[in-house]
Amino acid sequence: MAQNSADGWTIHAAGFDPLCERGVEAALSIENGNFGVRAALEEGSAASHPLIIVAGIYIDIAGPAGQTLLTLPDPATLHLAIEHAEIDIQRVQTIEHLRTLDMRAGELRRAWTFDDGTGRRWRLESTRAASAAEAHLYLHRVVLALERGDTANLDIRFVAASDDKAGTAGEVGGDVRMAVVGPASARTRVSRSFAGPWKLASQSAAASVGDGQHVAIESVTSVASGAAPDAGSFDREHQRNRDAWRARWDDAAITVGGHEDLNRAARFATYHLLAAGSECDGRWSIGARNLSGEGYHGHVFWDTETFMLPALMLTRPAAARSALLYRHRTLPAACERARGLGYEGALFAWESTDTGEDRTPHMDTRPDGTTIRILTGEQEHHIAGDVPYAVMQYWRATGDDAFMREAGAEIVFECARFWNSRVTPGTQEHDILKVIGPDEFHENVNNDAYTNTIARWTLETAIALSREDGVAGDAMHALDITLREADEWEATASTIKRSRFTGDEVVSQFDGFLDLDDAPVRKYRDARVPIDLALGFAAMQHLRAVKQADVLMSAALLPDIWSEGGLRANYAFYEPRTAHTSSLSPPMHALVAAWLREPDDTIRYLEQSAAIDLGDNFVGASLGVHIGSMGGLWQAVVFGLGGLKFDADGIAFDPYLPPPISELALSFVWRGRHVDARIADDVRIRIDGEAATVRVNREQRRVSGDATFAYDPMVTYWSATVGAPA
Ligand code: BGC
Repeated sequence: MAQNSADGWTIHAAGFDPLCERGVEAALSIENGNFGVRAALEEGSAASHPLIIVAGIYIDIAGPAGQTLLTLPDPATLHLAIEHAEIDIQRVQTIEHLRTLDMRAGELRRAWTFDDGTGRRWRLESTRAASAAEAHLYLHRVVLALERGDTANLDIRFVAASDDKAGTAGEVGGDVRMAVVGPASARTRVSRSFAGPWKLASQSAAASVGDGQHVAIESVTSVASGAAPDAGSFDREHQRNRDAWRARWDDAAITVGGHEDLNRAARFATYHLLAAGSECDGRWSIGARNLSGEGYHGHVFWDTETFMLPALMLTRPAAARSALLYRHRTLPAACERARGLGYEGALFAWESTDTGEDRTPHMDTRPDGTTIRILTGEQEHHIAGDVPYAVMQYWRATGDDAFMREAGAEIVFECARFWNSRVTPGTQEHDILKVIGPDEFHENVNNDAYTNTIARWTLETAIALSREDGVAGDAMHALDITLREADEWEATASTIKRSRFTGDEVVSQFDGFLDLDDAPVRKYRDARVPIDLALGFAAMQHLRAVKQADVLMSAALLPDIWSEGGLRANYAFYEPRTAHTSSLSPPMHALVAAWLREPDDTIRYLEQSAAIDLGDNFVGASLGVHIGSMGGLWQAVVFGLGGLKFDADGIAFDPYLPPPISELALSFVWRGRHVDARIADDVRIRIDGEAATVRVNREQRRVSGDATFAYDPMVTYWSATVGAPA
């Protein structure tokens, strides 16, 4: 069903398989950060789940999840009847059916040729886009042509669904134009508009279509909160969307030469990430399935900052800024949450919606019928390090001092205050007790390696920031931060247990982890039932089995605190013990494997990451695409294969292209400068604008315009200190 495209810019879903339909609809969804539309068939089917998912508007629901994103009926839904018989893809004789996500153009196209059972041959072609030029516009055109056969009467009923969410702020309104066009007919035009608070009443139109004629329906719908601004014609808005996507890709081009599947997957990930970003000034952020499905109810996790934002800050920095402003906007709720738990500063919600209050469900019913308590909302505190990490990375990537002054510094300081109060002083070292790390198989653990590392990093970063001229002053003043408080952070940071890895030994993921028994992790990796279901969640507590990268996650974010020997030893130990039951895990393993110059694991984990939504005819995407994992894949390609690093002074590449990968071409924006890099037998860089320091392996130069470097693929990441003299 999933087909390869020659140019690597399209994703095809051919035919129609009801069992894969939900995944197809999500994988091929079109989004613009403001709303997302699933790629459902216009005429619907028993397997279809057509929806518009609206960003930022959460409604209360019964059940543990508490709140979910608002969904609306898709106004592209049309009931089509030929001679009073409804067209149904599962009943007519399909000659060809193909949906195509054109990632470069940011649009979804469909072509369907079928026989209606009376010898008439029809062809339906449609185009849909969530406009990248006007974030409230949804464009849809469908053309139904009678290619062969007797004149037929068509009944078209627009949007049968009406919704009872009236009263929520917002509006779906628009104009549908329908015309019957063909050699023998005069052009007739039926116009209809619908508007109103989430009520799309059913309306219908009839037409008689003869051999060689077609019916064309074009709609430009506005999905907006408040009054919808004016829109142009379909053709005009269609072109504007294409132009906007071309401009986006100019700053985000990605090519992985020599590996077609990976190339397509890297672009697919980039497409969804670009589509997820919005410039809403912090009114909302990006949920774990973006706007492509209802998985996780649109809740926002660390996925956004740790996995997605690195890609956005280097390709659509304004969208990364907006997502970070959302955390700033929800800082009061984060401070309230910390206070409620007896701590100082800010602890962001593990699952966040509009206000920033924690919306993590407290229980879950597992597929085996057992109910388990979910403790992540109470104990997964590393989010208070993940958000400041993204703030600092954004600042390094963009040099956006205004953001730091107005929002970023405050986030870092409030999180530092949290960690300072979160530690438990011991005789020599500070402990962080009773947490859940990224490895959610183990609860109530003490001194989780990732948590402790990111906590220490947050404190050290806050101290450095407090000494930074210019950007931190206002925040320090507003938060009343004294030098004494900063000194206290310093004392705490330097004594946090298990937060720095200088030796070559295997690090215990948390206190006592190394004493647990091993589990048959590898055996279950390809099994139909994941290990935690097969053995029972309670049993996982006592086993040396890891859900997703945890110790290795600290290396993925902070490679410089590791020795190469230490990382190698820990990769060798943890990789075989990791179940990868989170989609966030494989790309992080690909990233670390690339830094370790492990060719087989690099390729294997890249391929595994690529298959998460695209493999098995898209079934993995059934509840929505794994946009965090896509961000991870982008990082594995750019930071892993490209070895890209950046800071205020320059950018560095330590490329590693294991076979069959022969080339990597990237475009991105660093500090307002457009960078093109092509890595093959050598490394070619082009920097537009002011010169920058570029380092490739050990060679360092000032570059503006074109430069070519030789490189040594076996030089590992650790050798690249950006900006330092060669
Ligand atoms: C993962 C978390 C992740 C969440 C949402 C969980 O399965 O363990 O790390 O934040 O899914 O994607």
